[in-house]
Amino acid sequence: MGEAWDTVINGDCLEAMAGLEPESIDLIFADPPYWMRTSGELQRVEGTIFDGVDDAWDQFSELGHYEDFTRAWLSACRRVLKPNGSIWVIGGMQCIHTIGAIMQELGFWIVNDVVWRKSNPTPNFHGTRLTNSHETLIWATKSKSSKYTFNYKTARELNTDTVSQGDYAKGVRKQMGSIWTFPVCSGTERLKNAAGKKLHSTQKPLALLLRVVAISSRYGDLVLDPFGGTMTTGVAAKILGRHYLMIEQDEQYCDAGVARLAMTMPEDGPIARATFDERPPRAPMTAMIDAGYFTVGEPFYLQDGREIAALDADGKLTFEDGRWDMHTLAAKARGSKASHLNGFDVWHVKRDGELVPISDVRERYREELRKRPDERQP
Ligand SMILES: C[S@@+](CC[C@H](N)C(=O)[O-])C[C@H]1O[C@@H](n2cnc3c(N)ncnc32)[C@H](O)[C@@H]1O
Repeated sequence: MGEAWDTVINGDCLEAMAGLEPESIDLIFADPPYWMRTSGELQRVEGTIFDGVDDAWDQFSELGHYEDFTRAWLSACRRVLKPNGSIWVIGGMQCIHTIGAIMQELGFWIVNDVVWRKSNPTPNFHGTRLTNSHETLIWATKSKSSKYTFNYKTARELNTDTVSQGDYAKGVRKQMGSIWTFPVCSGTERLKNAAGKKLHSTQKPLALLLRVVAISSRYGDLVLDPFGGTMTTGVAAKILGRHYLMIEQDEQYCDAGVARLAMTMPEDGPIARATFDERPPRAPMTAMIDAGYFTVGEPFYLQDGREIAALDADGKLTFEDGRWDMHTLAAKARGSKASHLNGFDVWHVKRDGELVPISDVRERYREELRKRPDERQP
């Protein structure tokens, strides 16, 4: 399987997925044919023709045919997805209800449905119904008990939907919600053909894919997209230090997508590595003594400078004629009714004649641990 990483396969997704190892994929993003059922020319009110989705790849003869196709590719995704992986499927009103029902029929567990609110939707030219200004993404796992990746704190960092720019600059962060606002893909991001027209009728905005990949996979994970198109998912994966495996049946899209991927540079950083969500490295007292951050016998003080206890080699504290763990003794020394307090919030040591909280010393030790080489390279 390793040799297939960071690859674009030009072919049918059912055939290509049949050749993949079972349970080998961490994250799937699928933007399947919507079966838009447009007919005739779409004309703007002023008479110009709107270039809608009428591609050959979006044609199905009847609902049963579309359902069979959907069931087949979703089953293939289910086979290759790891038990704790997750899948996102995007669709419009024409298809998302069919897709969602089949996902549930196949046993997928829906984690969230997300509304992508388009800040610049295509208008309903003749005012015959509401402007179609959103699409839906279904985020699901293989089962209810899947331990899927959710980089919760990274999502908070990325949430600019419900925090104003001013508040965000002041450090305000809020939980990410299920309504995401992005413009549709346009301008220089939109790939063009030789005639200067849009190359692909449904190229998705990179910002949307960056968000999906950042919050629901880990650095170095393998991301699969069975309907690659212009390879937006692969580009997001590469930027964020994930591996990608893209499948697309159209050679022209593949060529353009491969070139796009070649021009993409990874952007390593706290979002890519989800450092906001990392658990701090373990820092037992004995390890910090061994590493020279604390010394056996050194006095431990309260914040007011009263010397209370001395540090033992096993990380306990000696006080008068007893030995205590630092959390129990913290409660006694503070006269608290609680049986223990967090010793790292209570105890201080002296460094260069100054009282320093022991949590600061621990943080310096953790910084040293974090600098050690990271084995999780993509
Ligand atoms: C909605 S578009 C995906 C667009 C893509 N997300 C992007 O940002 O460019 C669906 C794509 O799936 C491809 N496709 C349709 N059926 C396919 C199949 N059976 N196997 C592989 N690709 C297929 C189409 O050629 C089309 O490019």
